[in-house]
Amino acid sequence: MKPVLGIETSCDETAAAVVDANGHILSEAVLSQLAEHAPYGGVVPEIAARTHLRYLPEQVRHTMAKAGLGFADLGGVAATSGPGLIGGLIVGSQFAKGIAIANGLPFIAVNHLEAHALTARLPGLVEGGAPFPYLLFLLSGGHSQCIAVTGVGRHVRLGGTVDDAAGEAFDKVAKLLKLDWPGGPALETIATEGDPASHKFPRPMIRRPGCDLSFSGLKTAVAQTMMRIGPDLTRTQRADVAASFQRAVVDVLSDRAVHAMDMMRDQYPGANLLVVAGGVASNTSIRTALATAAASRGFRLVAPPIRLCSDNAVMVAWAGVERLRLGHSDSLDFKARPRWPLDTLEAVPS
Ligand code: KG4
Ligand code: ZN
Repeated sequence: MKPVLGIETSCDETAAAVVDANGHILSEAVLSQLAEHAPYGGVVPEIAARTHLRYLPEQVRHTMAKAGLGFADLGGVAATSGPGLIGGLIVGSQFAKGIAIANGLPFIAVNHLEAHALTARLPGLVEGGAPFPYLLFLLSGGHSQCIAVTGVGRHVRLGGTVDDAAGEAFDKVAKLLKLDWPGGPALETIATEGDPASHKFPRPMIRRPGCDLSFSGLKTAVAQTMMRIGPDLTRTQRADVAASFQRAVVDVLSDRAVHAMDMMRDQYPGANLLVVAGGVASNTSIRTALATAAASRGFRLVAPPIRLCSDNAVMVAWAGVERLRLGHSDSLDFKARPRWPLDTLEAVPS
């Protein structure tokens, strides 16, 4: 099978990549729109869509040139077609369809969450790629879910957040601490200067059955603590709050991962891989704690390199390869879907 071009435009990264049938990355490029959205303290959907439209053609041209390929050398074109911000999804998927039509190539409508889920199957992370089934802990800005990944298009939700996503909690607490946007990385940085035992924040859901998560009570506790301290926190006080909050999140995630691994073993006795994905999986304390939690249950943690945890097009191209080699492609009528839960995908027969 020939290589696949992947396009990612679901949020604020304009990304393109070419991946071959064996999962080798022939070229990849991510253009972050951080500077465009920073003045507003969050992603502005209209600005995101317009920025994708402006930069995507050049991004694709550049990526194809770096791979040394023309469109005729491709086996297909894959684009994130949901879930995400509708403007960006339309830009990316329609652009991909245009290339597909002009070159007689199959088009693959990739689910962004499945792309994160299948990243672990790229060779190099696990010898030969992670075999199904494995447990996925997806921790991004919009999603926090525990999922049994049993095949392409086969995802069984074991649990997830009942309120905020993990990344959302990091972003909201970072905002309270007046840190730069995006909050997650900034909070991790300042937390290194703080004492994680200085504040006793709650650990919501800990030791409850199942693997559901909740972060809104923790976020409220942080807000109340900051109000008690007063309006003008010193850098040390902010670092202490950040470190204590991060420690609470780490404890919650470790506990939930242990429960999820037990559920996974009950349902899929041979399973022994815990895969972490999504932007929050870039956090070193979280990666370290999840590795320990995995080892305590006889699992191995698979954490993709940080550049492949946050949004990128390598994962989209790879999801395209996985689907195409099973004979699956999508109609050019496929409409981008702002909401597209993983467990609603149709299983692709293997
Ligand atoms: O997966 P992602 O890049 O985008 C989607 O939401 O799909 O995740 C972004 C989220 C943001 O909430 C960001 O603050 C968080 O991941 N994040 C982090 C770190 N890096 C990114 N959270 C905690 N620690 C980090 N180092
Ligand atoms: Zn993502």
